Amino acid sequence: MNTLKVALLGCGNVGSQVARILLDDGQDLARRSGARLELAGIAVRNVDAPRDVELPRELFTEDAEALVKDADVVIELMGGMEPARSLILRAVEHGASVVTGNKALLAADGPALYEMAAAADVELYFEAAVAGAIPILRPISESLAGDRITRVLGIVNGTTNYILDQMDTTGADFADALKAAQALGYAEADPTADIEGLDAAAKGTLLASLAFHTVFPLDAVRCQGITSITAADIEAARDTGFVIKLLAIAEKQTAKDGTAGVSVRVHPTLLPRTHPLAAVHGAFNAVFVEAENAGQLMFYGQGAGGRPTASAVVGDVVAAARRIVSGGRGRTETTGEQLQVLGEDSILTSY
Ligand code: HSE
Repeated sequence: MNTLKVALLGCGNVGSQVARILLDDGQDLARRSGARLELAGIAVRNVDAPRDVELPRELFTEDAEALVKDADVVIELMGGMEPARSLILRAVEHGASVVTGNKALLAADGPALYEMAAAADVELYFEAAVAGAIPILRPISESLAGDRITRVLGIVNGTTNYILDQMDTTGADFADALKAAQALGYAEADPTADIEGLDAAAKGTLLASLAFHTVFPLDAVRCQGITSITAADIEAARDTGFVIKLLAIAEKQTAKDGTAGVSVRVHPTLLPRTHPLAAVHGAFNAVFVEAENAGQLMFYGQGAGGRPTASAVVGDVVAAARRIVSGGRGRTETTGEQLQVLGEDSILTSY
């Protein structure tokens, strides 16, 4: 069995959980990938900084460039524009597959990165960039490729959903709910991107670009956050059978001059309490998709936090490894995991 070297850039909430999974679940991942995934190193700004997860000290380095040079798969979880962008480009130049969760970078500069990856015949994976653990980008771009999507409604920011939900269900005020979301690891380092809707806007452009086979520029998103929502607004909505949710809305529309196109907007929205998205509580995310033939679909799950987002990242690493092992065909025959088949009479059922 081949060994693939995996370089991890960044070791925050998500990165540390990715490292833990790669180290703890190596056997399963090897069976599913067709290659051993060796965590070759973790590049961080300061090797001595305290971490939430205990990881072998010798894996840490401050030399990200050197780590990238030797890797087959590079996982970028540093966030922000630089040095993330340069390191992704360096990885692509070296022929490594790249996995990233960097929605801000992809929304701002995705097309250039995809082009460079395509020119170098390497893949760029970013399932973790939208809605954390929820598999949404592949279903939209692959499973629904035979349909025409007409609208995507997304609760794609866990922090703001948590805040609005706390205000709605417990009467918490905005500031306390935000502090709690930060303590739980949902919010960005600077929560402005969450509460002003910018994080949801970046995710909205990625959803729109894949759903409508286009490149949707971030600066074309009309964006309003939740900072002006008051307890009185929440109460008035509740009294009339509505709930306020921050939605990213991407839909096919016709311009005044008759031109067909796509619009993306992010804003607090009054949803009837009977709408499936109204039942999305806490930091959970959900994406509601409408397509001509499939009809309505809803994808639901944990959209933020270290472990859920790490699940999507490691899924992309396995996809990258399969593609490498299969020489670009994208699929690898995996060996069985040898779980026993149990008969009905031998299992305890509880849901
Ligand atoms: N700050 C983001 C959120 C993290 O709250 O959804 C996941 O992208």
